[in-house]
Amino acid sequence: MSDHLRAERAGAVLRLTLARPEKKNALTRDMYAALADALTSAAGDDDVRAVVLAGEGGAFTGGNDLADFLMDPPTGTDSPVFAFLRAVSTFPKPLVAAVEGAAVGIGTTVLLHCDLVYVAPSARFRMPFVDLGLVPEAASSLLLPATVGAARASEWLLLGEAFGADDALAAGLVNEVVDDPLARATERAEALAAKPPEAMRLSKALLRRPLAAAVQATMEEEGALFVERLASPEAQAAFAAFFSRR
Ligand code: COA
Repeated sequence: MSDHLRAERAGAVLRLTLARPEKKNALTRDMYAALADALTSAAGDDDVRAVVLAGEGGAFTGGNDLADFLMDPPTGTDSPVFAFLRAVSTFPKPLVAAVEGAAVGIGTTVLLHCDLVYVAPSARFRMPFVDLGLVPEAASSLLLPATVGAARASEWLLLGEAFGADDALAAGLVNEVVDDPLARATERAEALAAKPPEAMRLSKALLRRPLAAAVQATMEEEGALFVERLASPEAQAAFAAFFSRR
């Protein structure tokens, strides 16, 4: 388990907290590996019936660690980030997100794989892939237009426009805007966890089934391009600009 991922179980609900607040919970290779492991073991553990995903210190996550993108980038779809994406996109039990503050890159796209999403008024979303010289990931090129429509998806994925909690709610990306999203997410996860687990598993699989194969194929295709783009002059310049911005 990474120092920057906290896993706590209360009853049948497992809470996974991104805990690297000094870096806005930016996700390192170790954190992706720990998340993938935690989800894989939760999938096979009968005592876990729902998972809450949250961030510490007033942010959800600033997205992939840009220093890792520069120094230690994923080199293929066997890298930790892709292990995490496979685990989260095929997770068979209810997954509930609690979002405060920044939710950048994968911090937004991972929500497309969550069953319920509760956000604070402070939530600020952005998918700056093109600005970073990259391409969408986590099957967002498929799931975002399917969820919010092509018009919105183009503004958010191609223009990379930031948006807030109310826009996310109006577009159908999230369930509710609440002052305490963690409390709300936990309460909803407990309600899900109290239901018959086999009926829950089958029902979630049915809800996800229409796009399940396409999600995996899209993630493979995006992933191959993403890895290629990381080494591009466009991406390298964008990462360098982030670290020299002050
Ligand atoms: N990778 C590495 N470090 C990151 C990071 C990331 N994705 N996001 C934030 N950090 C670090 C900052 O470098 C800063 O570190 P420092 O204090 O050592 O300089 C610290 O976290 C706090 O971030 P800061 O930018 O000061 O906070 P903010 O509230 O002004 O802005 C963000 C927060 C998340 C909006 C902003 O940091 C940001 O845009 N980060 C990059 C997001 C990104 O492009 N992610 C990749 C998507 S694919």
